Amino acid sequence: MAIPSFDLTRQWEQIGAEIEAALRPVMAKGHFIMGENVSALEAEIAQYCSAKYGIGVANGSDALFLALRALGVGVGDEVIVPTFTFFATAGAVARTGAKPVFVDIDPNTYNIDPADVAARVTERTKAIIPVHLYGQPAEMDAITEIARKHSLAVVEDGAQAIGATYQGRAVGSLGDIACLSFFPTKNLGCFGDGGMVLTNNEELAEKLRVLRVHGAKPKYYHSVLGINSRLDELQAAILRVKLPYLESWTERRRRIAELYREGLADIPGIQLPVEMPGCRHVYHQFTIRVGKRDALQQALKEAGIGTAVYYPVPLHLQKVFDHLGYKPGDLPQAEQACAEVLSLPMFPELCDEEVAEVCRQIAEFINKV
Ligand SMILES: Cc1ncc(COP(=O)(O)O)c(C=O)c1O
Repeated sequence: MAIPSFDLTRQWEQIGAEIEAALRPVMAKGHFIMGENVSALEAEIAQYCSAKYGIGVANGSDALFLALRALGVGVGDEVIVPTFTFFATAGAVARTGAKPVFVDIDPNTYNIDPADVAARVTERTKAIIPVHLYGQPAEMDAITEIARKHSLAVVEDGAQAIGATYQGRAVGSLGDIACLSFFPTKNLGCFGDGGMVLTNNEELAEKLRVLRVHGAKPKYYHSVLGINSRLDELQAAILRVKLPYLESWTERRRRIAELYREGLADIPGIQLPVEMPGCRHVYHQFTIRVGKRDALQQALKEAGIGTAVYYPVPLHLQKVFDHLGYKPGDLPQAEQACAEVLSLPMFPELCDEEVAEVCRQIAEFINKV
């Protein structure tokens, strides 16, 4: 049985007709940039995430960059980020001219370690970017406390965690600004690139609206240096069809996670994801930890099962950041996670039998080695 790590064609079978119907009027009208679907989606996502304002942008990476720019982050500033995340989290910091300061992770949740955050605050620190990795919120109470103490901004990287909650509060409403990605494989994905910035602060929202259109207000009058970063009307129309399904898709992801937990419970040497009390994990990924990771991945591949390693190299050891002077061993928890994590197939349309087969193949591998 071939089981992909991710498959969008199954979702298309389910809602393709509805999406086609939503796209036709947009194409007939010929209004593709900053139209009514973008405005409506901004309001709908903001409401879903308990934020006041949503600002559609071209992708999640730009969402982070623009959030930092709106906060005034630039050359000479430092921004604290986890080293164990997708490149965009730190790339956005570097694009502003500021310096990313890398922090280690909690080995149980893979999220930023608040104690390490506290240890790395300096006079130049302007902001902290907690990433809600794999769909589980970071320890926001501890992070918020550090931010308050040192007057720092908090930018949530919620690219992997739309719909997640922390102590009953929605991801997207837990910091000064939050960033979402609608990359096709995300829990809420469009048919290309897309992203959104969320905030409760009217002034920041207005800055973001100007920054995404080359810093123009009114049109052709530029008082700040912005970029061209808008969410397409067609993508917004697709996302508006998908958003009402998101809760049921998330519930299915959580059910699949439960099935994995049951199926893998008695297998020695496999560390299952830890769900923190008070958090609703939305399982963008179901990521296990295992000593012989590469061999297991190969065995699963041979059995037709797709898996992925998010992420093989921590950001502090990426070549592009050589000039920052980090070396192997500096952030040991993240480095170890890079060698041991393996994300199993996870998407709402995955069926129970497929989950059972993945568990069976993992058990067979462990019994052999
Ligand atoms: C944690 C994280 N941050 C930022 C991004 C960037 O989003 P995008 O690919 O939409 O630019 C992604 C996803 O790709 C991500 O996983």
